[in-house]
Amino acid sequence: MILLSTLLLLFLVTTFKFAQSQPPLASCDGFYGCISSLRQSDCAPGEVLISGASLDGCCPGCRGGQGYMQVCNVNVPNRRCAPGLKCDRKCLYDQTTCLHTIHMKEEEEWAGWYPRCNVDGTYASRQCRGDRLSGRCFCYSEDGRRLFGWDWYKNAATMTCACSRRRAKLEAEGRTTVTLHCTQNGNFEELQCDSGVCWCADEYGGDPLIGTTVVHDGLWKLLPCYNATLHGDSYLRQCESAAFAQKTIQKRFATRGTIGVTFNAVRCDYDGTYGAYKIENGVVYCTWRDGKKIGSFQVRSSMVSSVNCNCARDTQIFQEAGIPFTLSCGGNGNYEYLQDQNGQLFCVDGDGYVVSTDVRPTESCDKFIYNSEFYDEE
Ligand SMILES: *[C@@H]1O[C@H](CO)[C@@H](O)[C@H](O)[C@H]1NC(C)=O
Repeated sequence: MILLSTLLLLFLVTTFKFAQSQPPLASCDGFYGCISSLRQSDCAPGEVLISGASLDGCCPGCRGGQGYMQVCNVNVPNRRCAPGLKCDRKCLYDQTTCLHTIHMKEEEEWAGWYPRCNVDGTYASRQCRGDRLSGRCFCYSEDGRRLFGWDWYKNAATMTCACSRRRAKLEAEGRTTVTLHCTQNGNFEELQCDSGVCWCADEYGGDPLIGTTVVHDGLWKLLPCYNATLHGDSYLRQCESAAFAQKTIQKRFATRGTIGVTFNAVRCDYDGTYGAYKIENGVVYCTWRDGKKIGSFQVRSSMVSSVNCNCARDTQIFQEAGIPFTLSCGGNGNYEYLQDQNGQLFCVDGDGYVVSTDVRPTESCDKFIYNSEFYDEE
């Protein structure tokens, strides 16, 4: 204990020194006056709300420029594209920033849904669909990919998706054995273990709760948030244990020099349950949280990068919630973009929400879906 606190003190002292030696930032200190309630809807048509657009770059503000498909020139100040667009003789969607979706909204034929953006150009972590009664919210990454984590719209007020985002980030950095546990809505579970240590976590941000300590993972049962009924004897859940065992075997094969032994990796979700699909003998199957196959959804494994099984999983989620499920899934378990109900055609997107009710039989739904190939201009 004494050693630990000495170490902690040392750590604090070093970080403090480090912080002191940093050059002062070109300063927005003393700026407390940003209008934090400024919204995109407060901007004039064609203008986009971005961070650092007003008061010497210290506050968010609205900024305009040439609109979508207008002629542009990066060297002429009043010929530059508006935020969210990039200049290639004409202003085109800059899909590296969420802000491009704001210009889609201004397109006349655009009827679809577009995601919410943060003023820094990243995607908002929580993206909500449908109405407040039966709609749902999903966790999204900063760059606009759907992540693990969802809740009904009416329950989503405290949903931060911070755990889902943390895990996604760590995995993107190359860590293959992250064991943070997220709740169904993408927040942090109360008890966390990762990288050999355990702690009682703040649900919304994941930091250790004030007044609790971080312990070596062998001591996890001593944590005040440990509950024997709930957590039992093992922090890792069934799927995680299976995945862990597989990785150990793989490692053993690798050290013996056996290569070419391919495993179909056990995929787990961020709550420790089984992932949305598994691969067996060259076939991808949609699976439920317990690892069992859902229906007969399947596709050959070369197609795996396009599989999300969102529709297959939703059939089960809606059934459990007692809500009739009326949409059709593709054979691979994804949502079929073009839906047909008694001859009435409409389009849904990958999350299963209607994006257009005005579609002709020969028309593709892609142009109503913000992240579809239709909008990849290059
Ligand atoms: C432990 O978990 C069980 C099951 O969820 C719950 O019923 C019980 O109230 C918990 N006990 C404590 C002390 O929190």
